Formats: sequence, C-alpha cells, structure tokens
Amino acid sequence: MRVIRAAKAGFCFGVKRALELAERTAGVSETVSLGPLIHNQQVVERMAEKGLRVVDTLDGLGRTPTLIVRSHGLPPSVYETARRAAMEIVDATCPFVQKAQRLAAEAAEVSQVIVVGDKNHPEVQGILGWAGPRAIAIEKLEEARELPYFSSLAVLAQTTQPAENFRRIVSELENHTDSLTVHNTICNATEERQTAARELAKTVDVMVVAGGRNSANTRKLADICAGLTRTYLIETAVELQKIWFAGAVTAGLTAGASTPDWIIEEVYRKMAEMNEMDSQTMATESVREE
Ligand code: F3S
Repeated sequence: MRVIRAAKAGFCFGVKRALELAERTAGVSETVSLGPLIHNQQVVERMAEKGLRVVDTLDGLGRTPTLIVRSHGLPPSVYETARRAAMEIVDATCPFVQKAQRLAAEAAEVSQVIVVGDKNHPEVQGILGWAGPRAIAIEKLEEARELPYFSSLAVLAQTTQPAENFRRIVSELENHTDSLTVHNTICNATEERQTAARELAKTVDVMVVAGGRNSANTRKLADICAGLTRTYLIETAVELQKIWFAGAVTAGLTAGASTPDWIIEEVYRKMAEMNEMDSQTMATESVREE
C-alpha cells in the first residue's frame, strides 16, 4: 500500500503564527487566551503544560496575566477590557482577519456592513465588533433575500467561507442596493486544503483525515473525502486500525488547518509502518507457501 499525503494539509499561516507567538509568550509570563487557541485538543493540552490557560472571561483573573489574542481576532471592546485591567496584549490575530476587521470598520462609516459567515463564530463576532452595532452577519442566501433596501451596502466574508456561497449572496445583495462594495476577504488556505484533499481522495482506496473532531474545517475535509472514497477521521495516530487498509493499494492522508505537523507525522509514520508490517507478513506467508 502506498501512503500519499495531500499536497496542502495542516496548519495555515495564521494558525502557525498564533501558536508560535503563544509559545514564546507563555514561556515568559502567565498567559491566557479567551477560548482555546486552536480547535485541537492535543495542542491545547501541550500549550497548557507550557503555561497557557484557557478562560472564557477576562473578569476576576486575579493576578494580571498576558492576553494572547487568537488568530480569529477579537472585537475592540475586549481589547478595552484588557487594557482597563492593565493586561499586556499579544496580538496573534491573523493578518488576513485583521484586514477584514479594518475594511469592516472603514466601510461602516459610509455603508451598512454585511458579513457573510457564521454569526456564532468568534472571527465573525470580532469583525462585527469592529464594524459597529449596525453591522449584521448572514450565512445563507435566504437571509440575504429577506433583507430590505439599503442606500449603500458593503459586504465582506468570514475568511473560511465557501467561495460559491459568498458569490451567490453577493449577487442577491445587488437587488438590495444601488451601491454595493464587495470585499472578498476569503482566505485561500481553506480552499487550497479542500482542493488538495478532493484531488487526492479521487485517486486513493482509502483516506485518513487527521484533526480535531471539534474543528469545522477538519470535518469539512472529511465530508469532501467521504463523498469520493472510504474515509476515516481521527484525532491521533493511536486511533488508526489496520483493518481499514485491508486490500487497499493506495491510502491518502490529509489534515485540518488546526492539526500540528507532529500529529500528521505520527499518523503518516504509523500508516507507513502498518504497510511495512503487511508486506513482511505477506513475504513470510509466501515463503511458507513455497
Ligand atoms: Fe488566517 Fe487564513 Fe488561516 S485567514 S488563520 S491563514 S485560514
């Protein structure tokens, strides 16, 4: 069995940068993040050992720790709270998300701002915060259809939005204004990983997707692959089962944008080892037959 990795898999630039900043910060001072740094339990546990504490509020933290801002970013109100509490802030907001926040804030001065994305996602909540109280988030075409007429509209996307959903909503919004400004803030890291996974899944007998079960982008990769070949989603290498690869000539491996390299490496190594064990068994059996 040949084990093939997807051409693009694992950490995107923004997550990698956030993790590096968090590692450097937690090593020298007491550090907290509002919510898990990334959607990967193994990374969260590793970072906890290094001194990064996950909290869900900045209230009542006692001694003043350093706040690491996750790659998703935060609304300005949270920066204010942190400053008032005399917390030091290490900003690991992904520069692509920062760009969306800046565009939203500028657009809000002259237009009604619409963010296409999941309203409950911290990135969208952050962008809405920068755009002010009038800004709204919509996720589906039907929601766009229900909007009234606006004299001026500006539309942005959550960085992980599917391009097709954004395109359809933008085209609907043209019916709701005579002045539409489109900021396509979709980051191609997600698209690149999905395309690479799709291409690979088309050619292999079985696919393994490594990543957090609570990570939306990992689950999406698994869905895409499952539509094309037999697919297994695992968090770590220990979950791999030899039976999954019985009779397979090729196996593919991909990983979500929040899966660290060390997990991908471990999974790859274990898949390759299973493969070697198989060929050894086959060699022994053929010697026996002779
Ligand atoms: Fe940034 Fe794109 Fe990753 S916006 S956090 S590089 S998915």
